Amino acid sequence: MKIFKRVLLTVVILAAGIYCGKLIFGRGSDIPAPMPTYFSQSTEPGDSVGIGAGTITGKIIEVKKGNSIQEAVGKASPGDLIRIYPGVYNETVYIDKDNISIQGVIENDEWPILDGQKKMNDAILYSGNGVLIENMKITNYKGNAIMGQAGNNYVIRNNWIVDTGVYGIFPQFGKNGVVERNILTGIEDAAIYIGMCDNVDVRFNEVYGNVAGIEIENSRHALVEFNYTHDNTGGILAFLTQGLPIKTCYDVIIRNNYVYNNNTKNFGAVGSTVSHIPAGTGILIMAADDITVENNIISGNDNAGITITDYAFAGVDHASDPESEPNSDRITLLDNFMSNNGNNPIADVKALMATQFSKLGPDIIAVGGGIGSCVINPSRYRTFGLNSYANCQVRDTRSIKTYLLDKPVMPRVTAQIEKGKMTYYGVCSGCHAFSTRLVGPPVNVIQALYKNNPQGIVDFIAHPIHKRDDYPEMPPQNYLTEETRKAVAEYMLSITK
Ligand code: HEC
Repeated sequence: MKIFKRVLLTVVILAAGIYCGKLIFGRGSDIPAPMPTYFSQSTEPGDSVGIGAGTITGKIIEVKKGNSIQEAVGKASPGDLIRIYPGVYNETVYIDKDNISIQGVIENDEWPILDGQKKMNDAILYSGNGVLIENMKITNYKGNAIMGQAGNNYVIRNNWIVDTGVYGIFPQFGKNGVVERNILTGIEDAAIYIGMCDNVDVRFNEVYGNVAGIEIENSRHALVEFNYTHDNTGGILAFLTQGLPIKTCYDVIIRNNYVYNNNTKNFGAVGSTVSHIPAGTGILIMAADDITVENNIISGNDNAGITITDYAFAGVDHASDPESEPNSDRITLLDNFMSNNGNNPIADVKALMATQFSKLGPDIIAVGGGIGSCVINPSRYRTFGLNSYANCQVRDTRSIKTYLLDKPVMPRVTAQIEKGKMTYYGVCSGCHAFSTRLVGPPVNVIQALYKNNPQGIVDFIAHPIHKRDDYPEMPPQNYLTEETRKAVAEYMLSITK
């Protein structure tokens, strides 16, 4: 009897312990930490090194409904995990520390939601290295859902992004990152915008109902794979924009994607680069080099399946930036499945096709200058302008599994002296190029206005007022310190190209 009592007591104490444990630790204890991302899909032991982000070495900070994510970031140290529980969070989150992971917790289909209420500009802005952001639903912002500013070794995945203004996921000027398994819709410029980056994998995403689905711009070593891009104005784009500090866009593999029915009417901001994309564009390559298009299903795009162009044909005035080479060179078109494209081509394309007695638009059209390109078995497709294309010597790119590097890269140098430059590249140049119009007016126009008056810029960017009817409002930059604003203003006034 005594023994029985003792056993009972033990059981009761144990049960109470477990119950209290649950009360104290919540169910957090059975939520797995994020998986670090591995550079290699190889199963060979020793062949996979984490790219850094998502390796949790510190504490877990929990954020629940009613609390602020920004406050949690303030308390976090490198290596910490910030776990965000379901609920609606109305804020902009700035992450300027390294190795911070943000992990949304999805319970019974309930997501943690960042909602900008159509008033806020950005949901998450990071400038740290090794930042991971996963499982967040982000909606109703005016600028960006997730924007990286010169952060390396980033991981952005499993996010659900609806109607966040100009860009959805926008790592800018970062090296060694992955954007995977996100769903994005309702973005008026590029849903996934890889700008001035190196070594990036964009894979397993679904992008639909945007102006540009996936955009690789002035970036190098990008793998765009296993994505489903449908019902955008343009599905997948690789191009070089002039007037940016990075003057090349090359080595992009567009492979194993489904590029379908990208016929949505263009709703991009007037004057933006993407506002010129014709509805019905499957894949667009402009002034970019060494691009491989392989194993995609490209179907139902009403203007053209694949468009390859130089600046001149695309109507880009090239005189302003002679350093940006205007042609698409060394384009490699391997096996792709293409069907039912070109049902309703734009007038220019229609006119070209008429010279070949076709009323339909092409599966593949190549116009303008460019050298060294090739195609495998083009007679499968309806084409225009491939006469100069050779027969490809390579048959596939399977030796390339990823463009991530085998080790995390070092943070970019951000010495005080570099601050203006870094901020300019990281924040401003997405909207301001030297001599071409992007979202905002060109820098040479701003220079004329603010000659010898950096303080004028410092004040304006903290609290911009809407000046130009044909431009949107500029989002306030008052999260930058006065010192940083001064540095960037001076840098902006000093650049010459
Ligand atoms: C999301 C896009 C965007 C970003 C990012 C951006 N700008 Fe702008 N900027 C604009 C737009 C749009 C305008 C035009 C606004 C208007 O005329 O109402 C503008 C206008 C300006 C002007 C002209 C002010 C005037 O008096 O006419 C300056 C100066 C300027 N931006 C500086 C900056 C600097 C410096 C940064 C980086 C710290 C920056 N901008 C980041 C979009 C942006």
